Amino acid sequence: MSMEPISLNLPGEGEYFTQEAYKTLRTNIQFCGKNIKVIAITSVSENEGKSTVSLHIGKSFAELGKKVLVIDADMRKSVIAGRNTTADTPSGLSELLTGLKEKEDCFYPVKDLSMEVIFSGPYPPNPVELLNSDTFAKMIKEARSHYDYIIIDTPPLREVIDAAVVATRCDGVIMVLGSTKVHYNQAQELVEQIEKSGCKMLGVVLNHRKRNDKRGYYRKKYYKAYGATEEKAKK
Ligand SMILES: Nc1ncnc2c1ncn2[C@@H]1O[C@H](COP(=O)(O)OP(=O)(O)OP(=O)(O)O)[C@@H](O)[C@H]1O
Ligand SMILES: [Mg+2]
Repeated sequence: MSMEPISLNLPGEGEYFTQEAYKTLRTNIQFCGKNIKVIAITSVSENEGKSTVSLHIGKSFAELGKKVLVIDADMRKSVIAGRNTTADTPSGLSELLTGLKEKEDCFYPVKDLSMEVIFSGPYPPNPVELLNSDTFAKMIKEARSHYDYIIIDTPPLREVIDAAVVATRCDGVIMVLGSTKVHYNQAQELVEQIEKSGCKMLGVVLNHRKRNDKRGYYRKKYYKAYGATEEKAKK
């Protein structure tokens, strides 16, 4: 059965600065070495942009003609399929790893790109166990011979251990830092946890959302408040 290709829908897609940023990131990953092929994307806390960054990195490599597989290994909170693609309640990783679905049902090709996506599938009772399984290890091992890059999206490491488990099958990990609320210590802990799993920390992606307008907004507000107190002080 050949599957209908899906389309992507990503924030920043088609924007010049976003595209340039991902090209730079892509180049930096390539400079990490030819042996860096399977990469996990994680963060300290929720909502920092892991899933968005995962798909953007995948797309960026595919645009270079590389064969890419993006795996949504955040089986606890599946949003990619519905939010970032045209796939409609797709089969996914949880079903693949429990043997409920076949490979042919779970690898979704992306339209016009040498890229495929495995969605998370329905929330299983035992995500860590599934990610720790020989089935997952075997799946990644097989994928290594078919793809140039395998990008794996994971849940936040402060909340659950999944990313560290996935990291044991990866060549490198990228941390997404999207929140100014993440403290240095927490980021440091994440790095240590990843390194303990025997995986290489490749680097950090700063995902400052809506950088220009948001900063402008806060700055304006700040200046206004400052000006107001100054006025008061003069009186
Ligand atoms: N650079 C960006 N510009 C605009 N919106 C963004 C950007 N990055 C992420 N977002 C938006 O922020 C929200 C969170 O992003 P995303 O789902 O990628 O984060 P996440 O770290 O995977 O979250 P979770 O921990 O819930 O899995 C989404 O609505 C996404 O569309
Ligand atoms: Mg996510």
